Amino acid sequence: MASRLVFPEDFTWGAATASYQIEGAAKEDGKGRSIWDTFSHTPGATLHGDTGDVACDHYHRVATDVALMAELGLKAYRFSISWPRILPTGTGAVNQAGLDFYRRLVDELLERGIKPAATLYHWDLPQDLEDQGGWLNRDTSLHFADYARVIGEALGDRLENIITLNEPWVSSFIGYTTGHHAPGKQDLGDGVIAAHHLLLGHGLAVSNLRDVAGSCDVGITVNLSLAIPASNTELDLGAAARHDDQLDRWFLDPILKGQYPQSLLAEYVGLAGDEFIHDGDLATINAGIDFLGVNYYTRNIVAGRAAPHQPWTRQTPLWEFNNFDDVTPHGVPRTTKDWPIDPDGLHAVLRWVSATYGSIPLYVTENGAAFIDYVDQSGSVHDSQRIDYLQGHFAAAHRALEEGVNLRGYFVWSLFDNFEWADGYSQRFGLIFVDYHTQERILKDSAHWYRAVINANAIDQS
Ligand code: FCB
Repeated sequence: MASRLVFPEDFTWGAATASYQIEGAAKEDGKGRSIWDTFSHTPGATLHGDTGDVACDHYHRVATDVALMAELGLKAYRFSISWPRILPTGTGAVNQAGLDFYRRLVDELLERGIKPAATLYHWDLPQDLEDQGGWLNRDTSLHFADYARVIGEALGDRLENIITLNEPWVSSFIGYTTGHHAPGKQDLGDGVIAAHHLLLGHGLAVSNLRDVAGSCDVGITVNLSLAIPASNTELDLGAAARHDDQLDRWFLDPILKGQYPQSLLAEYVGLAGDEFIHDGDLATINAGIDFLGVNYYTRNIVAGRAAPHQPWTRQTPLWEFNNFDDVTPHGVPRTTKDWPIDPDGLHAVLRWVSATYGSIPLYVTENGAAFIDYVDQSGSVHDSQRIDYLQGHFAAAHRALEEGVNLRGYFVWSLFDNFEWADGYSQRFGLIFVDYHTQERILKDSAHWYRAVINANAIDQS
């Protein structure tokens, strides 16, 4: 029997993007270079050598792009601010032209009744700061807090939410340990140090923002997933627990409890040395947030490798970074990122966060999927798989809401097809199709479907 799942009256339906993935205009109006400009121009770093030089050319299309958001009926829009557009070398004098771009964006959004949610750091660190060690250098945390203050002063009164960092696990461990992302460093200990400095930067930024942007809610976005152990053997249970500690607890415990998880602390300190955590850092990181942003895409079934985990040392080879195997069966539907589709994993994560850390307001700040999308002869994009994906995940979120989870809103990733980091333009995540040759935008079927969901504030289940 068909049923209708109605969401709370003030539920915030939105869509999300990030600066380097959509803006283009990589060298315009005084913008400095970021680590992604450098990385994407490094031979072999991204698929096909794709770069964000032009991307969706959003920088030149703000008014028409915001008009599309209004057409979709979005209640909120999550975008990120490019640090080197504001402070070309990461510190010092403000580049007014860069700030003006975001002022225009926020004006357009407010005129159309769309609430702006700004992420301060979605991975595009100013290259000059990287040249001084990047997130391995403690000073970067201080510079980040100064940059947060600049944004808070300039835009804080008109932003609904400020998100300090997007997915610090990715910035640190994929940027500094696996090297799959900018700046492409490869060292186990470096990931640990970068993670700490990111968290410290978050804490310092929160207190600066509280000084200057009082009315605006301040939070952070983390990528969460709870692994399913392949069996009840100690090996598999251990692998799943370790996965969750590395990905989830290593970040949430310091932010929300002011401590690192004991299960990893000695090992991580062994890798990174004991100087990087200073007295008082954990209290700073535990500054208090108004909401937590959760990014969720997938969940894996994991099996431990042949022998129980041996603590990492400086000699541990990098390929042991993931010391488990993903044994999710082949039959499970996947997106083109090869991520298993598992809406229950979203429900599990939302429940777990609430149960573990209390009923802090939550937003799903990213959820969505890449599929093979194309424009057919009638000019339409029939992305029924994306509709199914979103429908399943919205239903999972609704279930969590009914069970008392304090979920305030949901941002679909992504508004547009865009530059998907090391995968270049090969992964289309958008509700809106982008023809990268002409920059034409076409609302996919999922965009029309999403508009109807927002209008009804409900989804229909068959
Ligand atoms: C997340 C990122 C976002 C996008 C999606 C697919 O990890 O935050 O920029 O790349 O994955």
